[in-house]
Amino acid sequence: MTPPAPGSKVVKNPRAKHGFHGRTCSITSVGSYVPERILTNADLEKMVDTTDEWITSRTGIRQRRIAAADEFTSHMGAKAALRAMKKGGITPEQIDLILVATITPDMPFPATACLVQQQIGAFRAAALDIEAACSGFIYALEIGQQFIMSRTMDTILVIGAEKLSSIVDWKDRNTCVLFGDGAGAAVLQSRANAHGLLTACMGADGNKADLLGMPGGGCRCPATAESVAGRQHFLRMEGKETFKNAVHAMYMAAQESLRRCELDISRIQCIIPHQANQRIIEAVGERLGAKPEQVFVNLHKYGNTSAASVAIALDEAVESGRVRRGDLILLMVFGGGLTWGAAVIEW
Ligand code: ACO
Repeated sequence: MTPPAPGSKVVKNPRAKHGFHGRTCSITSVGSYVPERILTNADLEKMVDTTDEWITSRTGIRQRRIAAADEFTSHMGAKAALRAMKKGGITPEQIDLILVATITPDMPFPATACLVQQQIGAFRAAALDIEAACSGFIYALEIGQQFIMSRTMDTILVIGAEKLSSIVDWKDRNTCVLFGDGAGAAVLQSRANAHGLLTACMGADGNKADLLGMPGGGCRCPATAESVAGRQHFLRMEGKETFKNAVHAMYMAAQESLRRCELDISRIQCIIPHQANQRIIEAVGERLGAKPEQVFVNLHKYGNTSAASVAIALDEAVESGRVRRGDLILLMVFGGGLTWGAAVIEW
């Protein structure tokens, strides 16, 4: 494949090749919300046997946001959604579907998406949650865009929202330093004369389900006094193995997305990876042949916010002018499941 000359306007939308008669789908506005309370590495030094130096050098994280005791995933999701709707001039009545990607729903059921629907007053909308761990936002984008492209729906709200502080074991230094709370939201619509979401690929490997998860709370291990005493209701992770798989999965997904669009990495103005670990981001960036200045990073401020991660980063990239209309963006994610995905967007 010969990469097009830099600055070339030609973007190959892979859908055009397959007799595609649907509409294109664009992200027409984005918004995000993070809780007020900041938990710094210095604060964590007082809670577990760790140091700011270890956390910063091994992960790049300097602080994370922690939701208030009475602030839940649905509240953060609704706030991010209302910000995205305000920016896009979208009324609650316009929304046809709400997809909430999360591993920390307010409760097992009803869906957090229904609670968001109630809070934002989008009473025409259908509502459901999507569980693909940290990959959830790209999974939800890809699912949502099917309804736009097929002309089934006109306006879809995709939200990634997490209160990970509620499932983090604050006695486990291996995991508690990594995660934070927050939410990001995107409005999907068809926009005239735009390619929008050019492609998204998703993947999963259930053989590696044990690497990362929360054993308690489902039907395999319902809540009992023993399960609580055994700390089964907290997130667990094999850090090293997850790290290796993350680098490989994001690299492969990104390559596949670029290949489908016949794009070289040099054509991408902004790469937004899942914000889990600076070393993972650098390893994937190097493998892809990306320049550090192409990569958007905000994990030093928020840590890993799972399904909210790329959604918050996308909003910040747009708000700061890092992403402008017409730019090509590459999103890439991985998470528990294992799951992974990547998407190429013409903004
Ligand atoms: N402070 C000090 N020391 C620590 C800490 C800490 N917070 N955490 C672990 N250590 C120690 C370990 O105990 C170990 O000590 P030992 O050698 O005496 O046993 C040592 O540091 C090295 O541990 P490693 O596991 O080798 O450290 P590594 O360099 O792999 O970094 C980390 C660990 C940061 C967890 C890394 O493996 C990682 O980022 N993995 C990926 C995690 C991830 O991205 N998950 C995302 C998915 S999340 C989702 O889907 C919800």
